Amino acid sequence: MGLPYFRINGGNRLRGSVRIGGAKNAALPIMAASILCDGEVILHDVPSVADVTSLAELLGKLGVEVERRQDGALRLLASDEMNCKAEYDIVRKMRASICVLGPLLAKRGKAQVAMPGGCAIGDRPVDLHLRAMRLLGADVELVSGDIVAKAKRLRGTEMFLGGPFGSTVLGTANAMMAAVLAEGVTVIEMAACEPEVRDLADFLNKCGASITGQGTPRIIIEGVKELKGCEYRIIPDRIEAGTFMVAAAITNGELTLENCRLDHLMAFVDRLNAVGVNVERKDEAITVASSRRLEPIEVITQPFPGMPTDLQAQLMALLCLADGNSVITEKIFPDRFLHVGELNRMGAKLHKAGPTVIVQGVKRLVGAPVMASDLRASAALVLAGLAARGTTDINRIYHIDRGYQRIDEKLRVVGAEIERLSADEA
Ligand code: EPZ
Repeated sequence: MGLPYFRINGGNRLRGSVRIGGAKNAALPIMAASILCDGEVILHDVPSVADVTSLAELLGKLGVEVERRQDGALRLLASDEMNCKAEYDIVRKMRASICVLGPLLAKRGKAQVAMPGGCAIGDRPVDLHLRAMRLLGADVELVSGDIVAKAKRLRGTEMFLGGPFGSTVLGTANAMMAAVLAEGVTVIEMAACEPEVRDLADFLNKCGASITGQGTPRIIIEGVKELKGCEYRIIPDRIEAGTFMVAAAITNGELTLENCRLDHLMAFVDRLNAVGVNVERKDEAITVASSRRLEPIEVITQPFPGMPTDLQAQLMALLCLADGNSVITEKIFPDRFLHVGELNRMGAKLHKAGPTVIVQGVKRLVGAPVMASDLRASAALVLAGLAARGTTDINRIYHIDRGYQRIDEKLRVVGAEIERLSADEA
């Protein structure tokens, strides 16, 4: 069978209600943290996406039983501590595999994790992860492309985790997971403040860890001897929510989002408001509707609570249709612009200059065959396809399946004409 692709016939206004799933980027480190726990971990709202399947496979090889229960919850139990090696085969598919490094080292005293390479959104170093492990007293070497780390027992310390682009999300997660079982107190300065990092800390505390300051740039961890398991619900996915907000706005429709945390999306909603998109809380849900005229704006991505890089591509798709010129600057991943060329194939007028893209608003986008290049870039192409005149075929949608649970089905329910086909059916 050929590779699946999306066929979208654009132009429908989306209307109705969508439930936002649990956050992939919170679920992945929390799943990895199960390595640290002596008992069973039950996680609710772990999305069924390809990255979760890949991590479950890796954890299985590392001696953690992972099972999706009938009620949808994920059950994890670390039962065999023999294997401490994360092979390149899985790491190259998914960089988030790096978050087994801290837990393996803390719990088993050694970790061998293939060094992740670059990826579609640019050069992605892990020097800050390694710095954190070394500062905690581990001996860390690079052997034939693998990070090999060893320590009898880690020791609490003070560390500064800022890099050239600010804090690091998974680096903070790794440092925190390593420090929970260390001897003494660890202070992480310039820690990432992202809600996903906070969710990990809250999960670890429920398992018996002693962490304070999560959600601020200074996290303090008092080492404990052991962690037990617990039952925990993952926070809603703010990036999926933001993507559906743009879907409402770009189709001139109105969507109600259930299970959506506005306090995790303040900067993004601020930018949407500036464009002329209305975002309102109604009881427990959020309603998003747009006026006909979209205003051009300036956008700069930043670490949380700033505008997330993971919504830059989607916002760019919307700004393609604004009445004037917008400016988007990427301050986290300066090369994260592979969607620019594809959006231009659909009639957008985008001009890239270094880490900045000038978006010259056009009256309409037109359907075209395009290629997904990474997770969020593919979401931007889906959004552009929903608004475009005519048919858009998006290839390589395995990128989108890594992080969005059945986005095509969710969009169809609210009125989009989107089909998942395989190349043979074309
Ligand atoms: C997380 O990646 C997310 N991934 C990314 O989401 C997200 O784009 C990113 O954070 C930024 O918000 C997961 O949570 C699984 P970083 P992470 O370390 O932690 C530099 C998506 O689409 N840096 O916070 O790997 C780095 O190059 C994905 O769902 C160093 O210099 O990102 C970047 O410029 C894609 N040295 C900046 O820090 C390091 O050791 C922030 O990256 C580590 C990072």
